[in-house]
Amino acid sequence: MAFLSDTLARVKPSPTIAVTTKAQELKAAGRDVIGLGAGEPDFDTPENIRNAAKRAIDAGKTRYTAVDGIPELKKAICEKFARENGLTYAPNQITVGTGGKQTLYNALMATCNPGDEVIIPAPYWVSYPDMVLLAGGTPVPVVATIETDFKLTPAQLDAAITPKTKWFIFNSPSNPTGAGYTRAELRALCDVLLKHPHVWIMSDDMYEHLVFDDFEFTSPAQIEPKLYDRTLTCNGVSKSYAMTGWRIGYAAGPVALIKAMGTIQSQSTSNPCSVSQYAALEALTGPQDFLAPNRKIFQRRRDLVVSMLNAAQGITCPKPEGAFYVYPDISGCIGKTSAAGTKITDDEVFATALLEETGVAVVFGAAFGLSPNFRVSYATADETLVEACTRIQNFCASLS
Ligand SMILES: Cc1ncc(COP(=O)(O)O)c(C=O)c1O
Repeated sequence: MAFLSDTLARVKPSPTIAVTTKAQELKAAGRDVIGLGAGEPDFDTPENIRNAAKRAIDAGKTRYTAVDGIPELKKAICEKFARENGLTYAPNQITVGTGGKQTLYNALMATCNPGDEVIIPAPYWVSYPDMVLLAGGTPVPVVATIETDFKLTPAQLDAAITPKTKWFIFNSPSNPTGAGYTRAELRALCDVLLKHPHVWIMSDDMYEHLVFDDFEFTSPAQIEPKLYDRTLTCNGVSKSYAMTGWRIGYAAGPVALIKAMGTIQSQSTSNPCSVSQYAALEALTGPQDFLAPNRKIFQRRRDLVVSMLNAAQGITCPKPEGAFYVYPDISGCIGKTSAAGTKITDDEVFATALLEETGVAVVFGAAFGLSPNFRVSYATADETLVEACTRIQNFCASLS
């Protein structure tokens, strides 16, 4: 009898975490390494939020809570959806989990049966396909190329839907490309979904607040009220409020689905951390003046990174609408040889050679379902980004 499960054999460890770990190891060994792999803001959690958590500890809010969230937080989430997205939800349509990751996972675990297909636009966040596999479903990646700015077209979505399609996962702005769908682009996808009433929509709005220029964030249930009854709108405080370590995410949807997700959570982790829930309550109900300056900083960094990467030989870097990632294409580097003698056959070899020869850690595109590319997370100081991009430019210039 095998000790390890068949379920485990279906999934692989997160490549983004693997790159971050490798960069940390090299750093610990004394190498001069710049990590552009981690998907988290480099800011501290705002002070008012930290103070709310301290008050919660001192007030003894340290016990088990209701499995899927304290009532005050659920109410604050309902108010957030009404205020920011024009969406009306009641508290029994809200679930709170240990990070956005857990709410997405709960939804898939609660609904996927063997044979059920989940459409995932690629490039995708690395966890979607593996979470679908863990839940027993079948991921169906559909590649959106650089020609359409990494956005799925309505025709592609229509062609991917089969009688077995259970979910369509939608993520805008996207990890790893930063691509954000305009209102018109999302409207066109919603029109396709209206034709297929058996397909549910999982909208991962994690990067809602990180949008630039005059881009307007929209979410499917908001654009098309007829989709409300089959949409799970997912969000969290990790990225917008620099709270990745606190582990609070939430989702809103039909009561029966939310209840089913709570059942899964009740038998795995129970409630998300009590103190973190009070911190998230402050994040959603307290001053929001942290968001705009934050956006400005990220926008400046995006512009810096896009212009420096486009100046590198063999690299084409589109300018995304949001998040804190860019996803440059490296077709012009493939087939060349590095100064240390490595033949760049694909994006994984490129990322490995870049790390070994220049100390810059990025995540290779194959991990996100579209090659040859790599992902840069620019959630780091401007000077560090300038140094990293200069090293990338020099690396590309040295390829022959
Ligand atoms: C698109 C997307 N969704 C969800 C998550 C999960 O966020 P959390 O840290 O709240 O679990 C991430 C984190 O990287 C993400 O990029």
